[in-house]
Amino acid sequence: MEFIKLKDEKECSKFVAGEIIKLVKNNKKANLGLATGSTPIQTYKYLIEDFNQNKTNWKKIKTFNLDEYLGLPAGHKQSYKVFMSEMLFEGISIKPKNVFFPNTDQNYDKLIASEGGIDFQLLGIGTNGHIGFNEPGSELESLTRIVDLTEETINVNANKFFDGDTTEVPKQAISMGLKSILEAKKIVLLALGESKREVVSKLLDCKEFDINFPASALTLHDDVTIIYDEEASI
Ligand code: PGA
Repeated sequence: MEFIKLKDEKECSKFVAGEIIKLVKNNKKANLGLATGSTPIQTYKYLIEDFNQNKTNWKKIKTFNLDEYLGLPAGHKQSYKVFMSEMLFEGISIKPKNVFFPNTDQNYDKLIASEGGIDFQLLGIGTNGHIGFNEPGSELESLTRIVDLTEETINVNANKFFDGDTTEVPKQAISMGLKSILEAKKIVLLALGESKREVVSKLLDCKEFDINFPASALTLHDDVTIIYDEEASI
């Protein structure tokens, strides 16, 4: 794993957006694995800014989101489909037919493989070390599946996205597994802010897979970059 420490959210997001723009320009049919949460919001703003300024062509790009809540009504403002539309898709020229989310009716891993696999996977990280919704205890061999969210994740997401109301947060989600994530050709994990200090420090020390720290699976991939800001650094 390569670690790159940059000043703040702005610098980190510019860097990650720059990497994505380079890929989209060099490979007009690239497949991107995308993440939700607070972390990538600024990165997505830069992608939209670039689209408006430079008309970067997203028409043949395909995107595959990592996860989606289960149990929210379609169109719920906290569903990841709505989040992605508002934060990114409506601001670029991506085609709706090229946008994919996991759901319980399809084999997402087969679908991704049949589309040629993911060229670039963007990840955030939870304060408990989850990537996607692969909570501690997730198997290295895990594929896309229904997962139970931990109390910690429900609390964190309630505070960030559901006005602090834990009863509003779905208890389950469908998430790409650790094995699904490791299939990507390149992985970039973004960690921002003080709340990620402990997990970044754990990642820096990480040498092998530890089932209690899901992000440790990334030690098994040979093209992983961790971008983090000064606040996330000890
Ligand atoms: P965050 O979530 O970007 O809102 O911190 C990251 C995650 O839980 O994976």
